[in-house]
Amino acid sequence: TMAAEQENAGNLKQKLAKLFQLSLEATVPGEPDIEPLVAACTAKFGDYQCNNAMGLWSKIKGRPGIEFRGPPAVGQAIMKNLPQSEMIESCSVAGPGFVNVVLSKNWMAKNIQKMLVDGIETWAPKLSIKRAVVDFSSPNIAKEMHVGHLRSTIIGDTLASMLEFSNVEVLRRNHVGDWGTQFGMLIEFLFEKFPNFEDVNETAIGDLQAFYKESKQRFDVDAEFKDRAQKAVVRLQSGEQMYRKAWAQICEISRREFDQVYQRLGVHLEEKGESFYNPYIPGVIEALTNQGLVEESKGARVIFIEGINIPLIVVKSDGGYNYASTDMTALWYRLTEEKAEWIIYVTDVGQQQHFDMFFKAAKRAGWLPADDRQYPKASHVGFGLVLGEDGKRFRTRSTEVVRLADLLDEAKTRSKAALIERGKAAEWTEEELEQTAEAVGYGAVKYADLKNNRLTNYTFDFDQMLNDKGNTAVYLLYAHARICSIIRKSGKDTGELKKTGKIVLDHADERALGLHLLQFAEVVEEACTNLLPNVLCEYLYNLSENYTRFYSNCQVVGSAEETSRLLLCEATAVVMRKCFFLLGIKPVYKI
Ligand code: ARG
Repeated sequence: TMAAEQENAGNLKQKLAKLFQLSLEATVPGEPDIEPLVAACTAKFGDYQCNNAMGLWSKIKGRPGIEFRGPPAVGQAIMKNLPQSEMIESCSVAGPGFVNVVLSKNWMAKNIQKMLVDGIETWAPKLSIKRAVVDFSSPNIAKEMHVGHLRSTIIGDTLASMLEFSNVEVLRRNHVGDWGTQFGMLIEFLFEKFPNFEDVNETAIGDLQAFYKESKQRFDVDAEFKDRAQKAVVRLQSGEQMYRKAWAQICEISRREFDQVYQRLGVHLEEKGESFYNPYIPGVIEALTNQGLVEESKGARVIFIEGINIPLIVVKSDGGYNYASTDMTALWYRLTEEKAEWIIYVTDVGQQQHFDMFFKAAKRAGWLPADDRQYPKASHVGFGLVLGEDGKRFRTRSTEVVRLADLLDEAKTRSKAALIERGKAAEWTEEELEQTAEAVGYGAVKYADLKNNRLTNYTFDFDQMLNDKGNTAVYLLYAHARICSIIRKSGKDTGELKKTGKIVLDHADERALGLHLLQFAEVVEEACTNLLPNVLCEYLYNLSENYTRFYSNCQVVGSAEETSRLLLCEATAVVMRKCFFLLGIKPVYKI
């Protein structure tokens, strides 16, 4: 029935929280706003604990009619008032009133089996929004796409995938820098070098970054060129045909280069660059001006933000628009035209103040609620630097920036060499070898990035990320492949088994693995709502460790518990694959 379904809704932690909510209401009747504090246990007394007793005690002590004496008594009462539930095997009170819950292993087994039958989608987070924008990757035309953009691409892709898994429609936006003043010099340089510029393609231009550098050199030393370049910006922005054409040409060449990287990474994005928002800027600034938000300051038009001593410049003193004018307008567009409820920006932490400022301006304008817990909401997902092994900003030689394509090539080459060393060249077809090398190599690069808390800097180290031991994609991919091969070698059809067989969690290591599997739902929800991919990586690594413990201590094939244990293997593989999918890593099935 609907009511029973409602009661059953949510992940493990939320289900327990609902039970404790009822208990807390019964323990202190009429007390408003007691939020159940439920967390997975780290100690051995139980699987979950409720930590409300102490806080509740300090709230109610000394009140007339309160008979409790101290937090442990409050804990006892919370335990006593907990409704009957098939989820719970037993409870106990520890220390200053912590209520420990031991889950019923039958209930756990039943729910894992239910997932196997109904699909992992039934463990997806439930969010209250329908549509989100994830603004990520967003490199700049003709400038280099550097490792910072790689981080943004990898992190943004994972966040978008987690939201999509949660049934949110995600607009994956590539906010490319295609409208800066750099186009003046690029266009003039193009005209100069290629009088028939319309026929020019990337092979003629060669490396667009080198082209950028060359034109920049001209710009810096040649006053006449500089003057022409500055005029070209104006002519482009006023829509002169020849300038628009040259601009489109340069963008197209850049785009093709970016797309190659996206294709290799298996990342899907939709380009809506800075230029797209340009026509909307005047209207947005006029509206902000009419609201009295825009002021004159040193010839520029600005918005002052409380608590920040520099204002947000929305029109430069020369009358031109800047990064902030575009971002204000894009935010307006995403909220009002695209009706997105959560707008997420993935860039390096260095841009934090920029985002902080225009989010606050948007709040002043009434586009966003003042309370950050409410939707619509804008979030900046910042990340740290990628460092080289010398601890400095990652570069190939001392001055060169790292080309992404080269990085991916090297990751693949190295993982292929490792596979050949393991004798796979003789065992597999060339295609299998190629595909596995790619999945492992690219997976290693992605995972090495995602497993760190994104705010910290991390060191790019091929040896480390391609190690088959420790917390790496290689280790995890191999672990998954091994599970698949155990199932294959059993000769059993898990599709049939899950319908007819039954999972039991009698062995301590079976139970521990089962509990960890069930926690997938709450972990992915936490990773998604807090925008922290590393939380999911940590879960995946621990899953693999739990599985290894189970597999070393519990015989699978040929044992009396074979059916149940094969189903646990299958459930582990299913959850691992979903994690890989969300992290943008292609699973491998053979190793
Ligand atoms: N193009 C910018 C950069 O390379 C990133 C843009 C991020 N998105 C945004 N809406 N500001 O730094």
